[in-house]
Formats: sequence, C-alpha cells, structure tokens
Amino acid sequence: MRNIKQIKNLKGKRVLLRVDFNVPIKNGKVEDDFRIKASFPTINFLIKKGAFVTLITHLGKDGTESLEPVIKHFFAISKIKKNKVSFFDNVRKFSGEEENNLSFAKELATKGDIYVNDAFSASHREHASIVTLPKYLPSYAGLQLEAEVKSLSRAFDKPKHPFLFILGGAKFSTKIPLIKKYLELADCVFVGGALLGDFLRVKGYEIGKSLVDENNYNISEILNNKKLILPTDVVVRSGEKLINKKIDQIEKNETILDIGKESIKNLAQIIKKSKLILWNGPLGKYEDGGAKATKEILKLVANSKAESILGGGDTVAMISKMKMEKKFSFVSTGGGATLEFLVNGTLPGIKALD
Ligand code: 3PG
Repeated sequence: MRNIKQIKNLKGKRVLLRVDFNVPIKNGKVEDDFRIKASFPTINFLIKKGAFVTLITHLGKDGTESLEPVIKHFFAISKIKKNKVSFFDNVRKFSGEEENNLSFAKELATKGDIYVNDAFSASHREHASIVTLPKYLPSYAGLQLEAEVKSLSRAFDKPKHPFLFILGGAKFSTKIPLIKKYLELADCVFVGGALLGDFLRVKGYEIGKSLVDENNYNISEILNNKKLILPTDVVVRSGEKLINKKIDQIEKNETILDIGKESIKNLAQIIKKSKLILWNGPLGKYEDGGAKATKEILKLVANSKAESILGGGDTVAMISKMKMEKKFSFVSTGGGATLEFLVNGTLPGIKALD
C-alpha cells in the first residue's frame, strides 16, 4: 500500500481525502469525535506540504443527514483554516455512491488531482468513493488507514503469546467466522456480551428473556474447543433488581445484563498472564445498566503489560467517554470494518489502493 509520505509533490495539488466522519450526533452536536480527531495527522500532513484538501465523508445510513454539526465541530477543534480544507456534501446523498456507479466516481475524480483513503472504518463498503474513485486518480493510504492495517495485523501476523481474545457485543452470525479463526490463532477466546446468551442457549441453559439470534448454527466444534472460555456467572435483571447468579440459575423472567463477579476475577487472571490482548465488543448490555464489567476489564487491560488492540463502535465509545484512548497500544476507529479485517486480513477499500 502506498502512503501519503510517498507522494512526491503536494504543492498546490487538490487532494480528495475520504474520511469516515460518521459520528453520533445528538441535538445537533457531535457526541463522540474520536474518528474526527483520528484524521488530523493526515490532514495536517497534506496541508503542510501545500495541498488543498477536500474531505469526503458519509453521515448516517441514507444520506439525509446534514454535515453541518460535523463541519462546525471539525473547524472548532482542529483549528485548521477554512481556506485549506473544504467539505464535499454527505456522499450518501448521491445514489451513485452506494450503487458504486462508475460515472459518479468519475465525476468525483474531476474535483481532485490525488485520492487519499483515510476512512478505514468505511473501507469494508464497496461504495464509489471507497473502491472506484481510486481507479481514476493516483491513490494513497492516509496515516490512520496505515496505522489500522499495521496494528490490527498484529493479531494474525505472528501474534505474541499468550494471546487473549475478548469478544462481546451482539450479532452472533457475523462473529462465528471470527471466533473460529481466533480459536486457532489465540490461546484463549473469552466470550461475553449478547453473544453469551447465544452460547448458553445452544448449550441448553435457561437464558430467560435475554435477546438471542434464533437461527440454529452448527457450533458444536466451537463449544468443544478448550480455548473457548465462557463466563461462569452473570448479572441478571430480575424485575427491578440486579442479581449476580451462576449461569445455570437464570430464570424465565430474567435478562442477562453483564458477566458476573467470579467471571471478572477469572478473566483478570488470564489478562495478567497475557502478552497480547485483542478485544472487540462490550461484555454487557451497557446501555441498560450492564457496563460495570466492561469498565473494570478496560482498566485491567490498560494497566496490564500486554500489548492491547481494541475495536468495535460500542467499546470505543466507552473508551472515549472514559477518556482512555491513549491507555492502549491501539484503538481502532472501525466497527464492522475492524471485524471484517480481522477475519479476512484486508478490505475492499484497501485492495483498491493496490
Ligand atoms: C461505521 O460507522 O461503521 C462506518 O461509517 C460504516 O457505516 P455503515 O455501516 O453505515 O456503512
């Protein structure tokens, strides 16, 4: 992958920089700007070398959202002068973007001399500004994209051992390939979050009202793997109460909220011995009062000697809220893109830069 440091002459050049400023907005304000800040090294590098930068981003699913709050926030925190950087409209407003339309990509290409992709977290999408625009202009990787590839590759390219993979969140079906791959590469795969309910259900436990993926997946191979570690206790919501229980004591009217005290202790022991920790997805239903274990484990990982690589939209939002971004070896800006990269070792947007 060529990166922006290899561009010979940037003076006076118009750079089309694909970023991913798809950030949460509440009451017209940016709630979390981790992704925005992650693009600053690339933008500052390009400006310093004399380029004019046009930022291209999507916001939201269907292109109807205005970029105004993002633009306002960007100029307020970056201190970048308005005559150096401009914003293209929310790129999903144009149907050609998601349709990956050639003429839309060609039209975009007329607006610049060079294309740079610094949108790792959107690089799993085969959209025009990600995979086709680079066909029409000299193309390079931005510094964040490069850092993501380098850091996340450490999980599958000669990883350090003992290697602990912590996996939480939901969407069981999308995580099966990931679990299978890391049961081979890692020494322990610890499963929490909504995924835990899926595992317990398949194992024949009562999981009460916990949300599960109703499909039947053939995962007996995974369940019998000795490297797979499931929590031994959980915190459930039972009416108004939160109760710590063994996994075989969950009742019909209860919902699993978080992993329990004993499981946190067990995981803490594994963390202590690990040299590499890869973590994706919260361990509990954090939006519903189940954030405790994730917070405790985040602190333990931050204070451990292990190299730590973390990712996933919800986990990163918690890290950002706790102001712990700098406490880990690497925090990925990606959600779906990170998962896909960890499974496939590349993404459509990365391949397009070859
Ligand atoms: C993300 O938020 O993960 C990326 O911006 C991709 O967004 P999408 O899931 O709407 O394609």
